[in-house]
Amino acid sequence: MSDPDDAADFNPDDVDVFTPEIARCPQATYALMRDKCPVLYRGAGMPFGMAIISRFDDVMFALRNPDIFSSAMDVQLALGTERPMIPQQIDPPEQTRFRKLLDPYFSRKRMSALAPKLRAHANELIDRFYDEGECEFDAAFAIPLPCIAFLDLMGLPHSDLDLFLSFKDNIIRPQKNHPDAVDHGLIRADTGKQIYAYFEDVLRERRANPTEDFLGYLVQAEIKGDRLTETEMLDICFLQILAGLDTVTATLGCNLAYLAENPAHRQQVVDDPGKWDGAIEELLRWESPVTAIPRVLKQDVTLRDIDLKKGEMVTLLIGAANTDDDEFGNAQDVDFARSGNRHIAFGAGAHRCLGSHLARMELVVALEEWHKRIPQYQIKPGETPVFSAGIREALYLPLVWKPN
Ligand code: HEM
Repeated sequence: MSDPDDAADFNPDDVDVFTPEIARCPQATYALMRDKCPVLYRGAGMPFGMAIISRFDDVMFALRNPDIFSSAMDVQLALGTERPMIPQQIDPPEQTRFRKLLDPYFSRKRMSALAPKLRAHANELIDRFYDEGECEFDAAFAIPLPCIAFLDLMGLPHSDLDLFLSFKDNIIRPQKNHPDAVDHGLIRADTGKQIYAYFEDVLRERRANPTEDFLGYLVQAEIKGDRLTETEMLDICFLQILAGLDTVTATLGCNLAYLAENPAHRQQVVDDPGKWDGAIEELLRWESPVTAIPRVLKQDVTLRDIDLKKGEMVTLLIGAANTDDDEFGNAQDVDFARSGNRHIAFGAGAHRCLGSHLARMELVVALEEWHKRIPQYQIKPGETPVFSAGIREALYLPLVWKPN
């Protein structure tokens, strides 16, 4: 769609919410979709599913009814996996068994314990570029910090940072490290094998020498005699790489881009760091870095008079749901003191994000430490940030400030 603000020109066939141009500032497009085509049916052959659902109520209906809107879809080939990833590509009740085993480890208390070490790492990263008065935020901070947090969670050495970054890039965006490659499926399949092999080795070691980290927990986790098998552990670890790294990276980039362009909002948290929790929740709602999640229909269903058929893919547009005026008062205002902010940036229902406490801890640590050191900054004059579609990572976010 050429101009999302021009409602008069609106033609549902032109809507493509998954472009880098729209990803930079998607909220106006979301509003048009909710208003003009809340269930946008496309039919076969469309890249992100055959129907896109954008109103909060409809998205919640889908998330709360996994018996109709299933997560068990055949996307293995696209991600280099050999089996469904656990628990995201499994439906309840089987999925519930995994969440019972995994949820206790990801408690708020346990994740908070990782914060002091991460604060130190955040400052080490800032030390590397602070005196230069500028950095490309994605590469310098938003990519490495969540990966360091991930390695600490897993109990893996920081020397494996580059290896993990290549794992996730080769699966999610193989063109980044292989610009000339023709067959991305091969790169994904090969990387998938390396990921399984890496974790097979570490899990063997953990069984021999149990530890307190997440991988040590996995080999020991038990509820009433029920324990995870080796393949289940591998399918859990695979998902951790895909779910836990890019999501936080993208959220940090979206947040810094917003705060760079909205200095009055930034000043609120600089003046009163006690406002960070509210600011982070509001930015998760407004920016919704994970814009959409896929489902496949297990049965026919009619939504807003549109008939959807068993077997069809649907895309739940989380970003549009989170900016729906029917659910959020003054939804188009970014209000760091918003009360009752029940956003669904972490999803909802059975598959609600396993790592939300970890993610929130990482966001608080990263944003607090950054703003202690660099409270005033802007997007480098003359430069334009570049965002990716789908997961809204700020792939290019040049920032400048005056060092002391
Ligand atoms: C700000 C950062 C994050 C955002 C916005 C986010 C968002 C989401 C969303 C929307 C879902 C639901 C997917 C669905 O229903 O299909 C989800 C699920 C999940 N997330 Fe996150 N996530 C974040 C960080 C993390 C982190 C740090 C981890 C772990 C280390 C993680 C692990 C998972 C897992 C394992 C699931 C699947 C849960 C299940 O299917 O039961 N996420 N996340």
